[in-house]
Amino acid sequence: MRFFLTSDDPKSKARALALSKKLNIEIFKKPPQKQIKEFSEDYFFTCSKGRLFLKKGLGQNSKPIFSDFDDWAKNYEDNLLKNSTKGLPANFSCLDLTAGFGKDALEISKVVNCKSLVLVEKEAWVFELLVDGIKNISCNRAGGLLKKFKTFNMDNLEFLESKNETFDLIYIDPMFLGVKKSKAKKHMQALRDLSTAVIQKELLKKSLDFANYRVIVKRHKNMEYLEAIVPNRSVKGKVVRYDIYNTN
Ligand SMILES: C[S@@+](CC[C@H](N)C(=O)[O-])C[C@H]1O[C@@H](n2cnc3c(N)ncnc32)[C@H](O)[C@@H]1O
Repeated sequence: MRFFLTSDDPKSKARALALSKKLNIEIFKKPPQKQIKEFSEDYFFTCSKGRLFLKKGLGQNSKPIFSDFDDWAKNYEDNLLKNSTKGLPANFSCLDLTAGFGKDALEISKVVNCKSLVLVEKEAWVFELLVDGIKNISCNRAGGLLKKFKTFNMDNLEFLESKNETFDLIYIDPMFLGVKKSKAKKHMQALRDLSTAVIQKELLKKSLDFANYRVIVKRHKNMEYLEAIVPNRSVKGKVVRYDIYNTN
């Protein structure tokens, strides 16, 4: 599996070149048509008209992967995650230490009591897609929710240690390693395939010191507790489990 940078319209070429340098991703040189199939397992970070997205393979049926906040604001609900925030005070602040595409952060922002969300993401190309997603929203609902967001492109442990700031809720969604690949949705599969950022050993332990009320950790339902720390309770769904650590 390889990772390339490309553009799908002539006006985006200069941006693609600049991003290739910034993100250190090789520019894709289009092969003859008959070789297209050889790229089916590769990823393409694509600059399009005013928009960035990721694609797997070069086939027409390969769907773009990006932070689609308009769609997630209107058509997606994670009631399990929202239920995990029950009991937090009015105007609570949240720190998402593993922001990825920002889909879970958007769910937390839908909780009426949530006032602000800080999103930290280390992987530069993921961060680029996240920021591009925020810039490109068009529906009012997403616009209102994203006003709560503030983003940082840095290592999460470094963030905790350097900012020395507390948050009412800290959210951690480490990659589900060891879970069968075929089960992962395309966004998560891309992160698993391409993200080189790793969660450091004592992230949960440290987070417990910086959370005023709660730390929530997302796990696959069959996974062991993160850092072997037993939560106060867990909220279990068909596929995922949210482990809840009370800190007050
Ligand atoms: C499973 S994904 C999170 C997905 C996210 N919850 C969403 O809704 O899109 C985990 C993310 O954590 C990021 N990550 C891993 N190690 C990190 C670190 N040390 N600092 C900051 N981000 C990190 C990965 O690059 C990846 O984007």
